[in-house]
Amino acid sequence: MSTQVATLESHTFDVLVIGSGGAGLRAAVQASVPGVSVGIIGKSLLGKAHTVMAEGGVAASFGNVDRWDGWETHFYDTMRSGHFINDYRIAEKFAHEATERVLELEEWGAVFDRTPDGKIMQRPFGAHSFRRLAHIGDRTGMELLRTLQYKAISQDIEIFQEVTVTKLLKDEAGRIAGALAYYRATGDFVLFRAKAVVLATGGWGKLYKVTSNSWESTGDGGALAYRAGAEMMDMEMVQFHPTGMVWPPGVRGLLVTEGVRGEGGLLYNSEGERFMLQYDPERKELSSRDVVARSIFKEVQAGRGTPHGGAWLDITHKGPEFIKRKLPGMYEQYLTLADVDITKEKFEVAPTCHYTMGGVRAEAETCATNIPGLFAAGEVACGLHGANRLGGNSLADLLVFGRRAGEGALAYARDVAEASSVNAQEIETEMARVMAPFSVSHGENPFEIHEELQDIMSAHAGIVRSGPDLEKGLAKLQALTDRATNMAVSGSRVYNPGWHAVFDVQSMLALAELIFRGALARQESRGAHWRTDYPDELPEMGQWNFVQSIDEGVQAVPVPQMPKELSRLFERGMAPGAWTKQQEGKEN
Ligand code: FUM
Repeated sequence: MSTQVATLESHTFDVLVIGSGGAGLRAAVQASVPGVSVGIIGKSLLGKAHTVMAEGGVAASFGNVDRWDGWETHFYDTMRSGHFINDYRIAEKFAHEATERVLELEEWGAVFDRTPDGKIMQRPFGAHSFRRLAHIGDRTGMELLRTLQYKAISQDIEIFQEVTVTKLLKDEAGRIAGALAYYRATGDFVLFRAKAVVLATGGWGKLYKVTSNSWESTGDGGALAYRAGAEMMDMEMVQFHPTGMVWPPGVRGLLVTEGVRGEGGLLYNSEGERFMLQYDPERKELSSRDVVARSIFKEVQAGRGTPHGGAWLDITHKGPEFIKRKLPGMYEQYLTLADVDITKEKFEVAPTCHYTMGGVRAEAETCATNIPGLFAAGEVACGLHGANRLGGNSLADLLVFGRRAGEGALAYARDVAEASSVNAQEIETEMARVMAPFSVSHGENPFEIHEELQDIMSAHAGIVRSGPDLEKGLAKLQALTDRATNMAVSGSRVYNPGWHAVFDVQSMLALAELIFRGALARQESRGAHWRTDYPDELPEMGQWNFVQSIDEGVQAVPVPQMPKELSRLFERGMAPGAWTKQQEGKEN
């Protein structure tokens, strides 16, 4: 080892978790058992994660308010909304375990709204067959994160805040060996050696201009994994939540929880028409997110949008007491940010980039990736949601698979005698790469590159796509990526936002290319992926997931086929619980 690397601050853990949102905390809590050292690295401050943007609830089929609900119906809804390119094995485990994970959270201190008989209250959400979302007002993600945070700090887990990882390290045999990172406050490098690494870094919503995601969601984990050789799956699948704020411009994209529609909010166009009655007469405002987002988009395109290019959402008919009790966050958000009292007035909403369904391909049982020792959970991972995620399934996802990833990493680490050795030359090369932007004079500004990237993604790989447009976007992206090799920063390494932005932009550029390539490969419309040149969902395309890797490019890989005991659930064309309910109705 050369002198420079030998003097690096370094930490060694059995299990290293990268990402301190819900999935990362849940994984760390699981892996932290006596005799096992666990570290968490967060790019932001503890408690600051996109987890809080799942406001309206966590999906779990307790059947507290609709007794017909159960895991089979949750599984059915998840697969159906994912348009059947989800990994059924992941969805099955998920639907089975979501209730147990929520109850565990309750034991750890999470507070929920209650039914009159004291059970966890559940509300309706889009495309869930029953009232299924356990919630506390419209702050469920925040409560979940708070609970996990307290649980994690009560355990023997070392937490590193405001640390950016720039590279995953592997040994000569290709096994994970750790990560190289730097402290955002000082710019000093820090080496983490680990037997197992859990990636729980969230998604890449900051690729888009209008997004509910805050500055952290730049896809660092996805890009780290991809560069390290991980398989990335269904990258074309990007979720646009139907309702983000539209006005004023400074808050455009900020989430307006689906809980508003869950509690009875209605959507209108500028002509006062309740347009969801046409687009989905059965589910109306509580159709799946892909359908509602597209419907708003179509209304705006047809010239029936609101003054700032959205739709009206109206919940005034529920009355002020109800609205303030069930949706206190939304009431305050509109009052303070837009000067609109939602108990008295309708308000403008429009689609906002909210979630990335694609991500690191991970196995159902343990969340293991194709890189030995690397596990992935939460939004960075792929497989559960298919072509469209159900609201509330992300919080349940991070509980179920955060736990499974922690368990998987723990088991792996226990089998390994010691953390693999790291290559000193590789570390020096990486440190030189990270420092390089300081030596570029008259180079590109990373913030400007980011803005141009957002323009490209919004114009060419947004809610509506077409082959020629995707090709144009990809060409623009490649030109931008070339320019980005010459990004320059000035000043010192201490709290230097421009320098941090260089790595965010590098991650986003890499993932943007995967989105374009996946979107070009998927020559059909399915879920969130809407192509005007292939407007239909094509059965033959539904046989494939598109997997991309740095060595193999894009490959079509068969979607795992459900065994008979699961496929039979779909034979009636009706959710199992809904069928039971109907039968009971007939018998009565
Ligand atoms: O609308 C919402 O409250 C978001 C929930 C989710 O994305 O799961």
